Amino acid sequence: MIRGTGIVKTFKQRGSVLAGREVKALRGVDFSIEKGGAVSFIGESGCGKTTLGRIIAGLETYDSGEIVIDGTAMSALKPRARQPYFRRIQLIHQDPYSALNPTRTIHQTLHAPLALRAKQTRRPGSWIDTRAAELLSLVGLDPGYVLPRYPHQLSGGMRQRVVIARALTVDPEMLVADEATSMIDVSLRLGILSLLKDLRERLGVSVLFITHDVATARYIGGDGDMYVIYRGQIVERGKVETIISSPVHPYTQSLLSAIPVLHGLERPGEQRVVPTEALDESKSDDGCLFARRCPFSTDRCTSEIPLLARSGGFAQEHSCFYPERRNVVATPLEAA
Ligand SMILES: Nc1ncnc2c1ncn2[C@@H]1O[C@H](COP(=O)(O)OP(=O)(O)O)[C@@H](O)[C@H]1O
Ligand code: SF4
Ligand SMILES: [Mg+2]
Repeated sequence: MIRGTGIVKTFKQRGSVLAGREVKALRGVDFSIEKGGAVSFIGESGCGKTTLGRIIAGLETYDSGEIVIDGTAMSALKPRARQPYFRRIQLIHQDPYSALNPTRTIHQTLHAPLALRAKQTRRPGSWIDTRAAELLSLVGLDPGYVLPRYPHQLSGGMRQRVVIARALTVDPEMLVADEATSMIDVSLRLGILSLLKDLRERLGVSVLFITHDVATARYIGGDGDMYVIYRGQIVERGKVETIISSPVHPYTQSLLSAIPVLHGLERPGEQRVVPTEALDESKSDDGCLFARRCPFSTDRCTSEIPLLARSGGFAQEHSCFYPERRNVVATPLEAA
């Protein structure tokens, strides 16, 4: 349904100290998301996940590259003509507090986009309230309770469900959930995740799940694809289960090695990978972007650029000259 090739995005820093400094948020990223499919972007903070998610939702410009939606290249259209395409892709922010207008009741919040939708689809005005109630029920809320209330009268989890209901008012084909549970109480997270999973199954919407947390990526998109992003580049891509159970790129391995082990319940992976130094964006970028931190780097890694491809007989694509399966993930201890 949506495909991107060679997406590049550079930000110019503002502010007195860093003014003019360039940040390479995305360095030529390719992606493709099928109708009804699930894709997870995973990587540490600052790697470019949000920027890519916003570009996919049509909320951010990019310097070069192409996005094709349902066979139509966005570069061929004027910005206004792109809007109907991007309207099918709705972004769910990580912060349900700032996403909702605090001065409007939930009824008012849902009424505006539904009124527009009624007009577009030539439905009577009476449809609006019926649909608002329907959408709230669909996301697991009691319309009678929620509709007259203001955002501050709801819990974080309820607010995030309202945000999802609002996204559904336009009948989207894809939801982009950017760290959608990170600001919600831990006890409510699973509910939001299973809701997204449920919407995928019931409505056939595709879900792009952006997270720094491997466990959530696995839960939501178990049957889908995972993209591991490092400093604005995809370093490993394949089926979620393949990447989590047999990662071959040292960066992915370091990411998975950092998952805390449940002491007494799990045995740590025996070949865990720990970066040799901290990330420092000010140092040179020659060769592999992970080279300075990679325990396995050689001279080749700092002079040649490894490209994302399928090689070495592995099921997934990776961008490493020396891909190797390593046992980094913790496994449950056998019952004694
Ligand atoms: N509006 C912006 N202006 C300047 N720099 C930005 C802006 N948005 C993002 N960046 C920079 O781009 C990089 C990627 O950011 P982001 O996409 O938010 O990463 P992530 O979501 O993976 O944490 C970071 O270095 C960030 O500081
Ligand atoms: S290409 Fe070299 S530096 Fe980069 S991840 Fe592979 S081994 Fe490490
Ligand atoms: Mg982000």
